[in-house]
Amino acid sequence: MEREETAERLKTALSEVRGEVRFDEPMSRHTSMRVGGPADALVTPSDAEDLRRVLEGAHRSGIPVFPLGGSNLIVKDGGIRGIVVRLSRLQRASCEGERIEAEAGIPFPTLAQCALQAGLSGLEFAAGIPGTLGGAIVMNAGTHDGEIADVLESVRLVDFAGKDHVCGRDSLQFAYRRSQLPEGVIVGARLALKKGPQEQIRRKMEASLEHRRKTQPLHLPNAGCVFKNPPGDSAGRLVEELGLKGRRVGSAEVSERHGNFIVNLGGASAAEVLALIRQVRARVQQARGIDLELEAKVVGED
Ligand code: EPU
Repeated sequence: MEREETAERLKTALSEVRGEVRFDEPMSRHTSMRVGGPADALVTPSDAEDLRRVLEGAHRSGIPVFPLGGSNLIVKDGGIRGIVVRLSRLQRASCEGERIEAEAGIPFPTLAQCALQAGLSGLEFAAGIPGTLGGAIVMNAGTHDGEIADVLESVRLVDFAGKDHVCGRDSLQFAYRRSQLPEGVIVGARLALKKGPQEQIRRKMEASLEHRRKTQPLHLPNAGCVFKNPPGDSAGRLVEELGLKGRRVGSAEVSERHGNFIVNLGGASAAEVLALIRQVRARVQQARGIDLELEAKVVGED
């Protein structure tokens, strides 16, 4: 479709929206890896009602919508056609007894802090996981100490036609770094935690953060773990054993600190990151016969 026609359709679809709308917005500004070409439109709805306006407008105009978490994600250099929705203004959370009800745009570590304040145990593992609650649910984010599926009770989602859904945990088919949700945008979730001694919760969170700081390259832009761990092993360990740490394509580098991270040394393109991923994968396949599965999601156009 012609560029001008696309711009007109987007403007019409988004005319009622109250939140922030940016056209041709580079995704490199909004992903933790700092790569990615422009989204046709990046929209930050002002609240849940405004999100509905975005979805209904897009649906009427037949424009695709992509909900952005932004962490475990590589956006290609050609960017994303359609509307990218960022939920950074949907961050409310409230506690009632052993439950937390939260909006999907809340940063996962902020949610972990809410649990700590309320003396609720179960989210200690989340203390240092970047990204939003919504993103964490899609990815079933976790560590060796737990994952979101362990504490999730239900998810609220608006589908692309604007219809509300409440999905119970068991309908989401959680697996290792994976879930099966209806198509749409997660707007919130209810978590079931357990009362626990606050000091113990704090200590576990600190230990988890400390492990990350020591073992992961948090000082450089990255997309979290690139690969899923193969059964019974660690992708980072395999990469290290094969001498692949420090390998570079352009400004993308296999981290010297953790072999399952690729870091952006400054100005890397998505094409460089993806070429490096292909090289690592091919080498592990050739040397060990293991086909590493991508954990990070790759989206957009070349
Ligand atoms: N190891 C190496 N070399 C490396 C990296 C790791 O030898 O370069 C060894 C470690 O010494 C350790 C083992 O591999 O014996 C496991 O390492 P680590 O504790 O770092 O955990 P991981 O299995 O590599 C997983 C998650 C991380 C999460 C950490 C911390 C996956 C793919 N990764 O990594 O999650 O932060 O545990 O619990 O499940 C992510 O999902 O994006 C992510 C980073």
